[in-house]
Amino acid sequence: MKHLIDPMDLSIEELDNILNLAQDIIDNKEKYSEVCKGKKLATLFFEPSTRTRLSFEAAMMELGGNVLGFSSASSSSSAKGESVGDTVKVVSCYADIIAMRHFKEGAPMLATMKSDVPIINAGDGGHNHPTQTLTDLLTIKREKGRLDHLVIGLCGDLMFGRTVHSLIKALSRYEGIEFVLISPDELKIPDYIRTEVIEKNNIPYREITSMEDVIGELDILYMTRVQRERFFNEADYIRLKDSYILDNSKLALAKSDLSILHPLPRVNEIAVEVDDDPRACYFRQALNGKFVRMALIMTLLGLEA
Ligand code: NCD
Repeated sequence: MKHLIDPMDLSIEELDNILNLAQDIIDNKEKYSEVCKGKKLATLFFEPSTRTRLSFEAAMMELGGNVLGFSSASSSSSAKGESVGDTVKVVSCYADIIAMRHFKEGAPMLATMKSDVPIINAGDGGHNHPTQTLTDLLTIKREKGRLDHLVIGLCGDLMFGRTVHSLIKALSRYEGIEFVLISPDELKIPDYIRTEVIEKNNIPYREITSMEDVIGELDILYMTRVQRERFFNEADYIRLKDSYILDNSKLALAKSDLSILHPLPRVNEIAVEVDDDPRACYFRQALNGKFVRMALIMTLLGLEA
């Protein structure tokens, strides 16, 4: 049985197969409308979510399957003190596949030890978010036509942003990637990502604080929200929250074929005026999230159209 906990759980070949399947789903939706008939997806969300949970549920519905689950820890037996292991053991009696988001790093990994069905990590604390990475890769592939030979700027909260950590891991396996890491000093990428992923794979990278200085060199600009819920004190959050705001005046310095991504939700880091620019990909990215999750569910359940 296969789970998806860390983006590196998928080989490059498996990853490419999922992205190709997602593209086929986009091109031939009717072909897939009954693939998951009689199957159930459980979404166990111990932390807030809009896109991830609803796109998982929409994905299962569009495959002809059913969904069940909860959307906050307070509405599950976790509020009574039940362990993640027990919750998962029980839910795996009711569902064929589980997508789980948890505020504790490692909780979905622990869940795999108790589950009789595939577990998908839908975000664990400040650690990983592999299905957002699938969404990001599908978006880059559709917008740029390739996943290699790209200069990728990652901007904002690189310390706590789990989508950033997972995306860097996944992209580190492609040729000709260069990272430009744009953040305040306090929110730099964690050491383990810098040494164990970027430096270990000899990937060229820069850590800088000014977006304006580099925006003109980028093929992809991946904006992120400052992760308020992971801060120890509110004063630090308030000081750092508006470190970067992408607006039309900064965008005027960028390449005409830049792709702007953001996992969403956005707070202030992209001005609404940018939404009308053809380089803004973040709402198309949210739509891609549904298709790639359809492909992932099929893959983990071993189903074909
Ligand atoms: C991200 C997450 O939950 O990590 N959101 C998402 O899943 N699209 C990013 C964020 O919350 O800032």
